[in-house]
Amino acid sequence: MTQNPSPRRAYVETYGCQMNISDGELMEGILEAQGYQIVSTPDDADVVLVNTCAIREHAERRVLGRVAQLQGIKRERPEMVIGVTGCMAQRMGDTLLDEAPYVDLVMGPDGYRALPERLAEIRTGSRSKTGRPGDRAEPPPPSKKRMQLSVLSLDMDENYEGLEQRRTSSVAAWVPIQRGCDHRCTFCIVPYVRGPEKNRKPAEIVDEIRAIADGGVTEVTLLGQTVNSYEFDGWSFPRLLREVGRVSGIERVRYQSPHPNDVTPELVEVMATEPAVCENLHLPLQAGNDRTLKRMLRRYTVESFLEKVEMVRAGVPDITLSTDVIVAFPGETDEEYRGTLQVMRTVRFDDAFTYKYSPRDGTPATRLPEEQFIDPEEAQARLAELIEVHRGIQDEINRTEVGRIENVLVEKQARDPGSILGRTRRNKVVAFPGDPARIGDYATVELTSTTGATFGGVEVAAPAGVALP
Ligand code: F3S
Repeated sequence: MTQNPSPRRAYVETYGCQMNISDGELMEGILEAQGYQIVSTPDDADVVLVNTCAIREHAERRVLGRVAQLQGIKRERPEMVIGVTGCMAQRMGDTLLDEAPYVDLVMGPDGYRALPERLAEIRTGSRSKTGRPGDRAEPPPPSKKRMQLSVLSLDMDENYEGLEQRRTSSVAAWVPIQRGCDHRCTFCIVPYVRGPEKNRKPAEIVDEIRAIADGGVTEVTLLGQTVNSYEFDGWSFPRLLREVGRVSGIERVRYQSPHPNDVTPELVEVMATEPAVCENLHLPLQAGNDRTLKRMLRRYTVESFLEKVEMVRAGVPDITLSTDVIVAFPGETDEEYRGTLQVMRTVRFDDAFTYKYSPRDGTPATRLPEEQFIDPEEAQARLAELIEVHRGIQDEINRTEVGRIENVLVEKQARDPGSILGRTRRNKVVAFPGDPARIGDYATVELTSTTGATFGGVEVAAPAGVALP
């Protein structure tokens, strides 16, 4: 009797945004469906995939360092396949294969469906007929047993319908509803590495969320690069959001990342009236000055951004807001930068992700005159001041929230043994005494202290007859 060979083991290490994390789960799902065992360390894996981000130079350098480190394992086990996937793979393409000859596979975000076939080709050294035009296959050099493959074509139709992600969280699920981006913000690499916007069919999205709810997960986050520009056959994003919020078993719905221009009265109405849609919105500001916004090609002004904030707050009074901000965009004057600080003080975001501008080859902003690029020390000083201003505001807001009683979804064990960590509907993080067996449960928690950014709390009895925010 012949014995089944032991399954091949695959390890996927993901960097970058939630969309990329979701792609990592997709690759794991695709490999698992083909009999691979997913393992949690590269040490004993047959295939190691580093799923990368290209948004900032610093993130890329970090990943290149990590890939070089993996070469050490490959020296011990030359049969191990190293693949680099995701946005940096798409951006660097064949250059990556040339610079890192120990990498066997470079695959962009539209190539994952054929991942098992491409891996088999690398193993056997022969190409199947399913390679797409534009993909490169290098025959193995005499010194090497394997071919190198690059899979870099962007595919207007690839939405990964019909494929299952390997979801590892039993608490919350991230559901991509859109891939790519039709905007051309001049600082951003994403449209060049992920192609134009592609939206999934609403029926498939809702079916997937029904299956997620049937599996016991109660929170979903709809994902897209400009998620609220979603449109499919007469389905707008607000309509989809409403439908998702009504799936039986789903208690909380979030979405990420919206574009301010697509925050409409209809969307606010859905947020205000659908009980499952959480009172939290990420609204990327990027800059608080009209000339900079125009040069970033953000397609809104400070005034219209502030109007959106007002509209959202009028419709959902208890809403929390977070944002992204870039300082030291080429040509940003000190006065213009101070405009950003002013908007931060006006809006008072609950949370902010703050960055220095990072030039990305191929994006329009890199072609601005050299003298416009801001001195790194000045850029650092602007960032430090922005962070200080934001933290001060966040601390003030959170101190006023101590004493609130909130509905918390328990996500994981906290750093302190004996404590668990969860999130309120308004996306505030709370640690409180409790048993990790509660992960996935909802608890009623009084916020008793704050570090400025997060909260400590204690579980209390739910107030009778009161629906908690
Ligand atoms: Fe995300 Fe980074 Fe790509 S932020 S879309 S993984 S460039």
